[in-house]
Amino acid sequence: MAKFLDKISERAKVLNKTIVLPESEDIRTIQAAVKATERGVAKIVLIGKEAAIKELAGDLDLSGITIIDPETYENKDKYINAFYELRKHKGISMENAAEVMKDYMYFGVMMVKLDEADGMVAGASHSSSDTLRPALQIVKTAPDAALASAFFIISVPDCEYGSEGTFLFADSGMVEMPSVEDVANIAIISANTFELLVQDVPKVAMLSYSTYGSAKSPLTEKTIASTKLAKEMAPDLLIDGELQVDAAVVPAVGAKKCPGSPVAGQANVFIFPDLNCGNIAYKIAQRLAKAEAYGPITQGLAKPINDLSRGCSDEDIVGAVAITCVQSAAQDK
Ligand code: COA
Repeated sequence: MAKFLDKISERAKVLNKTIVLPESEDIRTIQAAVKATERGVAKIVLIGKEAAIKELAGDLDLSGITIIDPETYENKDKYINAFYELRKHKGISMENAAEVMKDYMYFGVMMVKLDEADGMVAGASHSSSDTLRPALQIVKTAPDAALASAFFIISVPDCEYGSEGTFLFADSGMVEMPSVEDVANIAIISANTFELLVQDVPKVAMLSYSTYGSAKSPLTEKTIASTKLAKEMAPDLLIDGELQVDAAVVPAVGAKKCPGSPVAGQANVFIFPDLNCGNIAYKIAQRLAKAEAYGPITQGLAKPINDLSRGCSDEDIVGAVAITCVQSAAQDK
């Protein structure tokens, strides 16, 4: 299987999308902007002061990249007004709005909100919270999504399970203590996201430390309730639980513990009961199984805004840009 990101990059190249990168004070962002532009993955907008960006860029060729300085931008007043209108019920003043719009992260999200860009990628030099909060406040959830959540695409080398070793893990990055309803909604949107990005039939395992009632506790009951709700909400999707990981992915274990299950032994989408489980699991796969981990990628927002790990490379940023383009194109439909 060609590397997940190679395929996504090829798909992005024909989409002609514009992606904002607000962290122009970070050299990795500028390197990624140059690579994404040279490869034709997306049109890039950097937020910042032109002189500072050019100085940091050194010999890098910035042609084809747009640079916007929030303080001198011609549409600055439109942005301030739009932010004020969106947040005035929270008690903010026009002065507050003007101050917030000087922040590159908020300004970048507002570019996406106002359709001057198709998506944003940030988080190389900001925490997940500082990256996601502006997106949640300004762009908000998509009309068909109950909440936003974050997932990783995990590609395990030499692995016969899942979709040729590729899986989606959710929520592994955003919703700390999801309710029964939240987990059901995360399962359904994750199935759709898997189909979009991996282009295979999603088989969703609602994970637990118990399989089909082998243990009984409030924890297992929560997963059982989420599974029941998700199945009711999306009867056409292949969703099953509660399942342990071995019953979810190993055909012989799945057949023994849950005969007749459309998911057991074949799962490629893992839904975790909370963020502790989801985040711990993806890091174990990444560090111990030497899996490629792409993410955290956001789903459920009205426009795609994606977070990066602070340890990311410039190539990771280019990959996130490509994923953001594909997500944006899916929302155009
Ligand atoms: N989906 C949709 N909207 C959400 C949301 C979600 N999952 N979580 C919060 N919101 C909304 C709130 O309703 C609020 O809207 P409002 O301001 O219009 O009323 C807005 O986002 C901000 O909420 P707030 O309560 O100020 O933010 P928060 O403290 O809940 O933070 C996150 C939201 C995402 C930043 C927080 O859940 C978080 O930090 N998650 C963990 C991220 C992390 O550290 N990951 C590391 C692993 S990669």
